[in-house]
Amino acid sequence: MDTLPKDVVLSVQDISISYLAHRGRTQAVNRVSFDLRKGETLALIGESGCGKSTLSLGIIRLLPKTGQIDQGKILYASRGGEVINLLDLNNRQLRDFRWAECAMVFQAALNSLNPVIRVRDMVYDTARAHGRTDREATRKRMLELFRRVRLDPDRVFNAYPHELSGGMRQRVLLAMGVLLDPQVVILDEPTTAVDILTQRTILEVLKELRESMGFSIVFISHDLSIAAEMADTVATMYAGEIVEIGPVNEVFYRARHAYTFGLLEAVPTLSSGAQDLISIPGSPPDLIEPPTGCKFHPRCPLATPRCAREVPPLVEEAPGHKVACFESAQVLAQSQRLAESQHSPAGL
Ligand SMILES: Nc1ncnc2c1ncn2[C@@H]1O[C@H](COP(=O)(O)OP(=O)(O)O)[C@@H](O)[C@H]1O
Ligand SMILES: [Mg+2]
Repeated sequence: MDTLPKDVVLSVQDISISYLAHRGRTQAVNRVSFDLRKGETLALIGESGCGKSTLSLGIIRLLPKTGQIDQGKILYASRGGEVINLLDLNNRQLRDFRWAECAMVFQAALNSLNPVIRVRDMVYDTARAHGRTDREATRKRMLELFRRVRLDPDRVFNAYPHELSGGMRQRVLLAMGVLLDPQVVILDEPTTAVDILTQRTILEVLKELRESMGFSIVFISHDLSIAAEMADTVATMYAGEIVEIGPVNEVFYRARHAYTFGLLEAVPTLSSGAQDLISIPGSPPDLIEPPTGCKFHPRCPLATPRCAREVPPLVEEAPGHKVACFESAQVLAQSQRLAESQHSPAGL
């Protein structure tokens, strides 16, 4: 029987996920572990292609057919206190788990709503599939949630998705995601495809819902200032691995991994302006034949011969702050200088 600490709702343990393709096997997620506590928001940050979406699809077991979980456990604490390994669930159990226990708001909200079905029918179908057959109760609850995400409830409830703007659809998905009162909500780049004002609204309504409903969040973003605003804990992913994880202030003000530091330097600040933006030189690695040693070493300004040879282990260097970098002491000194010069490295 698996157990979890009392305050942990989701525990990803040593998970690896790969895709089979013509060229070979892509190791999209490599031995990732983290715990998500009740009410906690964890931000997963990293460049495009580092495995963020794959990891979240793996958690809700919605990987495409070419993708497979090669090893590890994903433990989940049900409300009744039972700990289940999500990898043991059959299809029916998985359908129950999704939405009711763990909801996911996908990247590209446009595509995850069926264009020929009215919002209300999607809502009724979802509720019925989870045994909520009282349509009037479902309708009331949904209208209330639409109001809370600042949508015109009656109009949206009766609309077809194509009648709604991208930002409205994103909020429809968010509201539908929490309809069944899940314990965990996974949001995959929820603000990437929308304009800046809509982005603000989405973050505000998300914070309000989190406050009132108390769910935990896995928040995927490549926007560090958004991650800083939303998260309690930040995990940096590089080439399928979590290379740094810790409390938000630790990671943003005292970064210890050269890659995290590179991301922080790349954030435009009020004082520097976008024209001074430094981007990390080089491109993300090939995940079919990844670099030896630390996968970041070919792009790392601090890399030594050892970094090309040995894989740095993920080590807890400060309370709750783990990092996999041989040069973490140097990075830390640089981050502290950056934090002093900018006051706010995340651009807030
Ligand atoms: N359906 C798929 N088939 C094959 N490879 C995929 C598939 N989806 C993603 N990948 C590969 O897996 C890696 C991680 O991708 P992804 O999880 O989408 O990253 P992110 O969400 O961080 O941008 C990338 O190398 C990507 O090309
Ligand atoms: Mg993605």
